[in-house]
Amino acid sequence: TLGGYADFMAKEIAEQPEAIERLLAGRMGEHGVFLDELSLTKEELAAIDRVYLIACGTSYHVSLIARTLIQTWAKVQVICDYASEFNYEQDVLVTPNTLCVVITQSGETADTLTAARRMRGMGCKVFAITNVLGSTAARESDGTLYVQAGPEVCVASTKAYTAQMVASALLALRLAEARGEMDRSEVERHYRDLCALPDLIREVISRAWQDKRAAALFRRAHSALFLGRGVNATTALEGALKLKEISYLHAEAYPAGEMKHGPIALLEPGFPVVAIVPEDRVHDKTVSNIQEVIARGATCVAVATDGDEAVASLVEHVLWIPPVSDELLVPIVAVVHLQMLARYVARARGCDVDKPRNLAKSVTVE
Ligand code: M6R
Repeated sequence: TLGGYADFMAKEIAEQPEAIERLLAGRMGEHGVFLDELSLTKEELAAIDRVYLIACGTSYHVSLIARTLIQTWAKVQVICDYASEFNYEQDVLVTPNTLCVVITQSGETADTLTAARRMRGMGCKVFAITNVLGSTAARESDGTLYVQAGPEVCVASTKAYTAQMVASALLALRLAEARGEMDRSEVERHYRDLCALPDLIREVISRAWQDKRAAALFRRAHSALFLGRGVNATTALEGALKLKEISYLHAEAYPAGEMKHGPIALLEPGFPVVAIVPEDRVHDKTVSNIQEVIARGATCVAVATDGDEAVASLVEHVLWIPPVSDELLVPIVAVVHLQMLARYVARARGCDVDKPRNLAKSVTVE
């Protein structure tokens, strides 16, 4: 039931902190990160020399974040692929120690299931990250990590998305530990950073009024551009997907530095641009991109870190996020603003946010 919320999307956005708490509870023990669901011994884990991440839609965006976490923390090469592309690729470069991870909220996405079967056929161990107990992906995999986000009714994924990112972080930590890339205190530090996420998300949710205000800037828009760098190029992709899915407003996402290679031609006075520009190593580079946006008269909404006056003085509106100790985890906090923004824009346009046209919760055809 809706339990007092206007729609399931609002309810599921609000449930994100508890979902992440459930997933993280008891994951750090005497012997390090507890991830027995992997069904791989420490030696088998240590031998993994390539990880294939396969998914569709929002779950594919999770894979992009997972790639950065696994490569940065565990120093293993990662390949991400859309299941719908992977299934028709001629050459798949697997090694005897390749691990395949399929990420699928429903566990029933036809393309993703086909990809998992193809990988198993090639002798790869397949691990599933899913939200649905007993789903086909879970049943057909060598190991399954349930993200425990609870039923997600809204077609647009919110709490499964953030929980899947946290699940990927646990996998990255477990791999890093098994491969000796991190000592105990580092693993614990990262785990503490993950445990801080629920409160940071609560804080963002309490700032929903900022998203409501920003939504007014999209009233006359026909299209919107989302920009971000590094891990937040993925946040931009997810923000654009949420907006088009539920508000039917055309939206594109680009790594901010790529804007000058084409999409900048779209900009004109009033064109809405959402820039994700937290305090991180690429902050100043993204600020330069925001200046290019402003110079063309476009309307810029920024997701920025509390206290960032440099950004606040430039843009039309700021969606503030509290500081996040590890910049690689910012996407898990920043995306919550973009979920709320998409919802407010969609509601203002009279759309049914829970059941967008032409879409189903799980896509069971290839
Ligand atoms: O159940 P899955 O995670 O495999 O679903 C994949 C996509 O169909 C799904 O993420 C879709 O993109 C969502 N509706 C996005 O909000």
